Amino acid sequence: PNERVPMVAGNWKMNFDHREATAFVQKLCWNLKNRKFRYDKCEVALFPSFTSLRSLQVLVDSDRLKIHYGAQTVSVTSQGAFTGDVSADMLAALGCHYVIVGHSERRKYHPEDDANIVDQVRAVLADDMDPILCVGESFEERRQGIELDFAVGQVHDVTRDLSDEEAARLIVAYEPVWAIGTGMVATPQSAQDAAHAIRESIRQRFGDKVANTMRVLYGGSVTSKNAVELIGEPDVDGFLIGGAALDVDELTTICMQT
Ligand code: G3P
Repeated sequence: PNERVPMVAGNWKMNFDHREATAFVQKLCWNLKNRKFRYDKCEVALFPSFTSLRSLQVLVDSDRLKIHYGAQTVSVTSQGAFTGDVSADMLAALGCHYVIVGHSERRKYHPEDDANIVDQVRAVLADDMDPILCVGESFEERRQGIELDFAVGQVHDVTRDLSDEEAARLIVAYEPVWAIGTGMVATPQSAQDAAHAIRESIRQRFGDKVANTMRVLYGGSVTSKNAVELIGEPDVDGFLIGGAALDVDELTTICMQT
């Protein structure tokens, strides 16, 4: 037992238009209500495309739903001639609680390097939202046996210059790249090892209070078949889920299990 409220976060990536997103959230909240889900024991957050955020805001506000939502990335600049970008101010105005930063797909398909990710973290924090920082090794680093150093190094590079107050608002998602969308889930032990190593590196830099309250999520082929074992690990505080978060009954089950 610890003071951290676990989190189930659904990263929808580039799936669902705003009508599908709305219908999904209505069904999910209906399911959770029927199953007497305790929102005080587990936080639920969804990460739709930008185009669905306004619809979720209207729905969540009007029906007083207890789920949170956020964006999958953010611009590092606050306004101006940046065609196609969306600022943190705009996301905050849409009621976002969180923004995912540094997802491996963003690192791969877009020019998002550590410097850019640091700036995203700052932009998110400046607008009073909390960043969910994604880190994790590829198959190659795992093969070399340097996966823990790699993930810890990514966290270190991004958090190095944060203040204690800023670091206290961070959530880290450990998502080994080889596990994303492959059906090859990390073993509970290796998810625990990475989550623990990340927490201890935060402890060294920011002290006990930040380390003990910071949530570390696991992501990569999480389903209702493996969630129970993973959440049993002491340093795993929930999940960042891709594929399984596109199926409302599956996501309901994972919420109930977490
Ligand atoms: O951000 C979540 C994600 O990358 C994991 O995807 O489909 O393996 O659950 P998936």
